[in-house]
Amino acid sequence: MTRHAMLALAARVFKAWLAVCVAAFAFSLLWPENVALPVRFLREFAEVTLLVLGTLLAVHWSMRHLIQQLADWMRLTRTGQTVAPPPAVPQGLLAPLVEEAATMAQSLSRAQSSAELEARLRLQADSLWTAERLREQVKAKLQGRSLLVVGNRQPYRHVRRGGAVTFEMPASGLVTGLEPVLRACGGTWIGQGDGNADKETADEHGRLRVPPDDPQYVLRRVWLSPEEEAGFYYGFSNEGLWPLCHIAHTRPVFRAADWEHYQAVNRKFAEAVLEEIVNLEEPFLLIQDYHFTLLPRMIKERRPDARVALFWHIPWPNAEAFGICPWQTQLLSGMLASDIVGFHTQYHCNNFLDTVDRVVECRIDREHFSVQRGSHTAYVKPFPISVAFSEPVPGRFDRARARAIVKEKTGASAPLLAVGVDRMDYTKGIAERFRGVERFLEKYPRYMGKFSLVQLGAPSRTNIQAYGRFVSEMEAEARRINERFDTEDWQPIVLVEKHHSHEEILPFYQAADVCMVTSLHDGMNLVAKEFVAAREDDRGSLILSRFTGAARELQDALLINPYDAEDTAEAIRAAVEMSETEQALRMVRLRRTVRENNVYRWAANLISELAAVRLDIAVRR
Ligand code: G6P
Repeated sequence: MTRHAMLALAARVFKAWLAVCVAAFAFSLLWPENVALPVRFLREFAEVTLLVLGTLLAVHWSMRHLIQQLADWMRLTRTGQTVAPPPAVPQGLLAPLVEEAATMAQSLSRAQSSAELEARLRLQADSLWTAERLREQVKAKLQGRSLLVVGNRQPYRHVRRGGAVTFEMPASGLVTGLEPVLRACGGTWIGQGDGNADKETADEHGRLRVPPDDPQYVLRRVWLSPEEEAGFYYGFSNEGLWPLCHIAHTRPVFRAADWEHYQAVNRKFAEAVLEEIVNLEEPFLLIQDYHFTLLPRMIKERRPDARVALFWHIPWPNAEAFGICPWQTQLLSGMLASDIVGFHTQYHCNNFLDTVDRVVECRIDREHFSVQRGSHTAYVKPFPISVAFSEPVPGRFDRARARAIVKEKTGASAPLLAVGVDRMDYTKGIAERFRGVERFLEKYPRYMGKFSLVQLGAPSRTNIQAYGRFVSEMEAEARRINERFDTEDWQPIVLVEKHHSHEEILPFYQAADVCMVTSLHDGMNLVAKEFVAAREDDRGSLILSRFTGAARELQDALLINPYDAEDTAEAIRAAVEMSETEQALRMVRLRRTVRENNVYRWAANLISELAAVRLDIAVRR
């Protein structure tokens, strides 16, 4: 009851009281002999009135308190501040109301939590890319058009061992990144057939469906003669461009004969691509890496309706360093025919634009990062590549089992284990890693017998002299360090030179206390991301070279300068002495980064950008 209503009631009672008094007074005037009667009546009336007023006041105060409590509880519930039961009320008058209010509050709180959950899921879905989401996105962007990837390294190689033909996946960051994308979206991968059983497992056009045990997309193999392979792949690509772009102090070699083969093989791949797209309107072409700088121009000249992106998986050096390539103008001119030229980092985009600025006559728009030549515009953008990242599966992560596998395969049984996984390549900083281990044991001899580095090294580009020398040097370096420290049952460095499949590498990642990625220079480095993706237990430390593209994203790794053995040794010490809490803190953040920035996001971004470019011809849509 409000104050105003109370006053009105009191006024009404007072008026009634006055009227009764006047009536009693009149009665006493008219019948003076009966004066005692009105007096008695008045007294009793006054008592009754007081009793009524008192009861009313008592009811008012108690109800008001209860209703206020109920209203407060309802307001808190409505604003999501409480889900506790309503205040206790006496059974009776208000009980049905309270019961109803409690039910309403419960439904309200249920609706609120389901709305919150939905919002959370929506947010997560927005930030999370999966194979399914990519498939839908690509379908929407391609609108019935086809997706083709050109990458020299094919995703599946067939080999004959003994009498049997088997297949394997080559060790290549490019394959690790691109293969899940093709699996998700379908399409065609055009690559070099280099396995000794590749011809017999493909049709007469070099086509087959892969993965061989679960076909999802088409692989078109291109056959190269030994001379072409020597000049194009070993020569110009890997003795010229590879060392040119990696600042790893191995001198690039440029031979005119290799350049001839490089051009011829680019033409050969262009013919294969043109064959594959002959009946396709406005196909999407994702060309991979330094093997195919000339391909975009060759395709665009014949098929200006093709949408072409060239993705560069390795670093791009500064303009002065790139300038030592005798054919830099032709390379740049070929690349600039693409609609998009992609790198892992903005830094490499900047280096590329500076190089273009020095060498090619064109208009550079530094605001939009584009290069215009004639009527064609090429956009230069960063797209940091990644791995697929699969959500944890109960029972998949088993450290003890992983340790047992590592011990069985390598003999390494030290309580503290570091792992390195690389192609045997001079850019990977393997010697520097070994020297880091050596310095660590020198400084902290208490770890002798307790710490080992298991280095998996996949043989790579073995026909190139620099690679052959490198392998011998690594073997000698591991031997030297082992001889310095080893005991009867322990070696600080266990070097295993062998190709390992992804499935075989997984237990090494799972068993490790530390993963060491010490590249002297690397476009991205997917080993770092694979290790993080494998650590479903949120433990383990990543030592990562500052000179990798991955270091820009994986800031919770222990970042090092691999040229500085002291720095590496200290990072090993920090990693093996790191508390479980800190390991978890770092690993959870690392995993969030890799999970959210997975390869499906990379592909979605690249393909969406490619779908958005305006072709410089009259286009269909
Ligand atoms: C790097 C390159 C890839 C190449 C891979 C393996 O990641 O960017 O293009 O496939 O190395 O090298 P390989 O010469 O064996 O293909």
